[in-house]
Amino acid sequence: MDPDRLLRELMEFLRIPSVSTLPAHNSDCRRAAEWVAAELRHLGCGDVQFLGNDSHPVVWGVGPEVPGAPTLLLYGHYDVQPPDPLEQWTAPPFEPAVRNGRVFARGAADDKGQVFCLLKAIEACGRPPVNFRFLIEGEEENGSKVLFDVLRREPRRTQADAVLVADMAYVAPGWPAVYTSLRGIAYAEITVRTAESDLHSGEYGGAAPNAHEELCRLLGRLKGPDGRINVPGIYQAVRPPTKAERALWKKLPFKESEFLTKRVKAKALVGLKRYSVLERLWALPTLEIHGITGGFTGDGAKTVIPAVATAKVSLRLVPRQSLRTVERQVAVAVRRLAPKYVTATVRFLHGADPAVIAVNHPSFALLDQAFREVVGRGTVAARAGGSIPVIPALRKSGAPVILTGIGLPDDRLHAPDEKLDLQQLWDGIAVFQRFYELLGTNGVEGNRRGKPSRGGEEDHRH
Ligand code: BES
Ligand code: MN
Ligand code: MN
Repeated sequence: MDPDRLLRELMEFLRIPSVSTLPAHNSDCRRAAEWVAAELRHLGCGDVQFLGNDSHPVVWGVGPEVPGAPTLLLYGHYDVQPPDPLEQWTAPPFEPAVRNGRVFARGAADDKGQVFCLLKAIEACGRPPVNFRFLIEGEEENGSKVLFDVLRREPRRTQADAVLVADMAYVAPGWPAVYTSLRGIAYAEITVRTAESDLHSGEYGGAAPNAHEELCRLLGRLKGPDGRINVPGIYQAVRPPTKAERALWKKLPFKESEFLTKRVKAKALVGLKRYSVLERLWALPTLEIHGITGGFTGDGAKTVIPAVATAKVSLRLVPRQSLRTVERQVAVAVRRLAPKYVTATVRFLHGADPAVIAVNHPSFALLDQAFREVVGRGTVAARAGGSIPVIPALRKSGAPVILTGIGLPDDRLHAPDEKLDLQQLWDGIAVFQRFYELLGTNGVEGNRRGKPSRGGEEDHRH
């Protein structure tokens, strides 16, 4: 395969500003879907459809039939997060540039570069070794409502012998991973209203309530300085990682001090000090404030007491927690923590349950082998702090869902100067090519013949 051509094609995909959270980019999302559809047709898919929605369609594809071979469903997303703050990018986010063997662009690692990798690995096979199915969605970064609807109406779309998702990273350079859990998420807007309209801060200041002040106090009460979330019941379902898991995590190439100095680049880490950093990132819920709006934030000075203030917040959920329960608990907590004289409301924008995946199905061994052959090390089992809303729904057909990725931990997902190392991309194409071929020759039965083919997952949610 010609790396120059591949890079040109990837750049074309990365140039489309398919930001799913902003309606102004609806036609760009559509264009990205069309780019994916054209690739699928190029790979020999006779049946390529846009499902669910015109502006953010799920791209469905059925690859050429390979009689007797297993069916592999590939999932990924062509949408990206907003690129701001723009001034912090070295080059514009939708004008992909290669510097130092890395391609910089919004979506380079999350997830266009990885979708590209999955697809080009099929091209590299020449003749497809398995029956491919594709679900490439355009709303992952906005809660996947369209795909949820599609799967509710047509659950059979997920039927396969295995599902492969490449939307994550190695745990460290040279250390590929498969993930045994993803956190869920509950995204909310908390609005505090204190009066009918803004008031002169001289005429009324000292006696009138201030919406920003009340919102800040409310947010301060929701999480203590020790990092404990003050939502009654929130930790009830949470279980510590098993001893075996803890032992595994200790062997990962992860140092808390390096995480602070090389990745977070802050002066200190925060959170529940009794727990290891990995446990805080992977096995405990979080509450983060994303931004606060309202009042006066323009240029210059204006003296006003704001009547309304809104915070965008989200909670990450860990295995055994459920979105519905957490949403209820948050709504109750906000009502309880706000003083009587303010109106506090919570509006949930999107959310997802956490996902738990057992990695003992034979197809995981094949991916392990592919990584071992290509990059010299097999996969380690890790957990992920991020979320992919639709994963629990993809598991419903019973097929094993393989969560992996070709990114690196320092790819700066959702942040300025997001990048993908080109060596990761080339290796990734070779790994997935090998995986597809192994799956084609070995099937999914592995050495488990005779055992019931249950898919091998467990679901710890209620
Ligand atoms: N690819 C990420 C999820 C991810 C990142 C998993 C790193 C594991 C490690 C995905 O695109 C993502 O960012 N999801 C959102 C979902 C949300 C907007 C519903 C997230 O986690 O914030
Ligand atoms: Mn992603
Ligand atoms: Mn993302």
